[in-house]
Amino acid sequence: MAELAILGGTPVRTALFPAYNPIGAEEKQAVAEVMDSGLLSSYIGAWHEDFYGGPLVRELEAKWRRAFGVRHAVAVNSATSGLYAAMGACGVAPGDEVIVSPYTMSASATAPLIYGATPIFADIDPRDLCISPESIRARLSPRTKAIIVVHIFGHPARMEEIMAIAREHGLLVVEDCAQAPMSRCDGRYVGAIGDIGVFSLNYHKHIHTGEGGVAVTDNPDLAERLELLRNHGEVVVDDKGTRDIFNIIGYNYRLTELQAAIGVHQIDKLEGLLEKRRANAAFFDRELSGLPGIEPQPVRQGCTHAYYNQVFFFDQERVGIPRNVFIKAVGAELPSAYLRERVPLIGYGYVKPLYLQRIYHEHATDCGPNCPRYLGVAEYGPGLCPITENMHYHVLFNHEFHRPGMSDGDLRDVADAYFKVYEQRHTLRGLALEQGK
Ligand SMILES: Cc1ncc(COP(=O)(O)O)c(C=O)c1O
Repeated sequence: MAELAILGGTPVRTALFPAYNPIGAEEKQAVAEVMDSGLLSSYIGAWHEDFYGGPLVRELEAKWRRAFGVRHAVAVNSATSGLYAAMGACGVAPGDEVIVSPYTMSASATAPLIYGATPIFADIDPRDLCISPESIRARLSPRTKAIIVVHIFGHPARMEEIMAIAREHGLLVVEDCAQAPMSRCDGRYVGAIGDIGVFSLNYHKHIHTGEGGVAVTDNPDLAERLELLRNHGEVVVDDKGTRDIFNIIGYNYRLTELQAAIGVHQIDKLEGLLEKRRANAAFFDRELSGLPGIEPQPVRQGCTHAYYNQVFFFDQERVGIPRNVFIKAVGAELPSAYLRERVPLIGYGYVKPLYLQRIYHEHATDCGPNCPRYLGVAEYGPGLCPITENMHYHVLFNHEFHRPGMSDGDLRDVADAYFKVYEQRHTLRGLALEQGK
């Protein structure tokens, strides 16, 4: 059998995998038409029809409403903007606590800080990897105002239980669906279950407009507040007759007509792209589930998974070497680049638990836990969320080899790399001992 690439042998494959590019002729044509019109954006920060943006922004919003079965969709220039606007719309303020997940992209947890509130980290469910109802309950306080739920990697959180807690305690729920467009939970799309759902259209998501996002809600008051926050709301509240202006100092979260033109076509492709992701993920689930100690993430009954990343659980005892050594060795068998060099397509863990970031430990802001109006004690130390830490440092690994565009041969090469390393894992024991501290 060929020697492992990490030990100097020939890799399973050196040819790059196809780049992921969901942009086609329709998007190019639509962008060309906007360019020809000269109207690359049509927002006006005044009480005028164009306060709500140009025709393509509105078309994108109409399509989004239909696709997700929601009453209001507000296009924004990123999911980060959408999350910030969601906090503002929910009336989050200094002194409030917002319960968040530690295992997510940073903006899902910084959003409360933007409005002076304090992020309170609750641990994740060991299977779906999203914030768990039991850890939310354990973190409730009289100061809790809202919960930000992230459907991480594309698997839905336990929304029914989370909504029950929220209703019982009068809390607002914002769903971060950046990684989970059209994931379903008991027949309902995530994003349409909580009070506000936020989607991302950045370039590494399922569908994209380069940068962009959409916030959705069924609540007309929240929709109005999102629209005001998107576009200098303070300027229009008098003419519009808006009564509640708390937090309504607006930003510029506006999506351009160029981006909306792309989004109008991208949304039509979403279901097809998800089908491909699911089919490719099923291939790896089947193949890798034959390797003792490697377990594909199960999809909870009643849910569908959007597979932004495909996640596996690694049992070091059963495999016999540490996860990081195994994954490094698999990575060495395959070309590292997908869209660009340096972008790893396989990784151990995800992001460091967010409460370990410096901004939560040093005086990065006078708001949140440092605000004089905050009467609680926010904890951000190691050990705060043991399931998250165990997943990140020992158990979880993920890859993006299931993206659409991979041929059967490409998928086979990846599976072969996993098998090759698995079969020869004992040759890595020395390496494991050195690196496994
Ligand atoms: C879970 C999650 N939330 C929020 C964001 C922020 O999205 P955007 O880049 O559109 O601001 C991302 C982006 O990677 C994400 O993965």
